[in-house]
Amino acid sequence: MGTLTYPNPNAAVSLLFCILVCFSFSPAWARPATFLQDFRVTWSDAHIKQIDGGRAIQLVLDQNSGCGFASKSQYLFGRVSMKIKLIPGDSAGTVTAFYMNSDTDTIRDELDFEFLGNRSGQPTTVQTNVYAHGKGDREQRVNLWFDPALDFHTYTIMWNHFHVVFYVDEVPIRVYKNNEGRGIPFPKSQPMGVYSTLWEADDWATRGGIEKIDWSKAPFYSYYKDFDIEGCPVPGPSTCATNTRNWWEGAAYQQLSAEEARRYRWVRMNHMIYDYCTDKSRYPVTPPECVAGI
Ligand SMILES: *[C@@H]1O[C@H](CO)[C@@H](O)[C@H](O)[C@H]1NC(C)=O
Repeated sequence: MGTLTYPNPNAAVSLLFCILVCFSFSPAWARPATFLQDFRVTWSDAHIKQIDGGRAIQLVLDQNSGCGFASKSQYLFGRVSMKIKLIPGDSAGTVTAFYMNSDTDTIRDELDFEFLGNRSGQPTTVQTNVYAHGKGDREQRVNLWFDPALDFHTYTIMWNHFHVVFYVDEVPIRVYKNNEGRGIPFPKSQPMGVYSTLWEADDWATRGGIEKIDWSKAPFYSYYKDFDIEGCPVPGPSTCATNTRNWWEGAAYQQLSAEEARRYRWVRMNHMIYDYCTDKSRYPVTPPECVAGI
């Protein structure tokens, strides 16, 4: 009793065969496999549920609380991407954020994606912002050209010595170049953690705060999967971040490809609804990175 026996030796042989063949031919184990390998819950355990064996999570926002999670490590340069399915239907007043942050008070570096909910049928807005050496106030807004609640889409932050690029699927929606040579700050000396939160911000999120959250629609759910962080963990090998052979520093990633540049122009022409660079009431003098960064 308790010992595993096989009715005939062939079954054992085919099982062994499968262990050798089935497993070795499965695609390289997608990395990282589970949420808990790279992340921890930072806000309201009860509102983050692991699903699919921990390979995906569900975030919940209700009248009691929102929730949040963070990477266990910080990283200096690299590429972070996640597949996210946002709140369906009436999500006005909710904000889902996915960002990197140096967690330092005064000279904070931060790279933000913020998804601003909307009334049913109205577009979800993605706000991006870049803090470099403590200064932010660089908001841009793009209305998504698809319903981000119908399917998972990939949201990526690419950060190397040359630029920061925010991608929605294969489309770059924002580029912040390294123009340090012209005295423009660029985040490059502080490692950043990876964060995400889901919370209520109906005082500003949707149509400037006019559209309030409808709690009769709560709880609100968003889903995340395929957590992928490739970067130099800190603490880690001290030479990692300066190694120009890291794939994300390679020639193909030092500027947008022709195809990416075409997509980027398409987004800016057709889907961009706000750019601090052209907000004269806020910035009578055009910020230097807007002049140099083109
Ligand atoms: C919400 O929908 C309105 C109306 O279509 C649109 O003007 C706005 O940009 C959308 N996004 C937000 C965050 O208000």
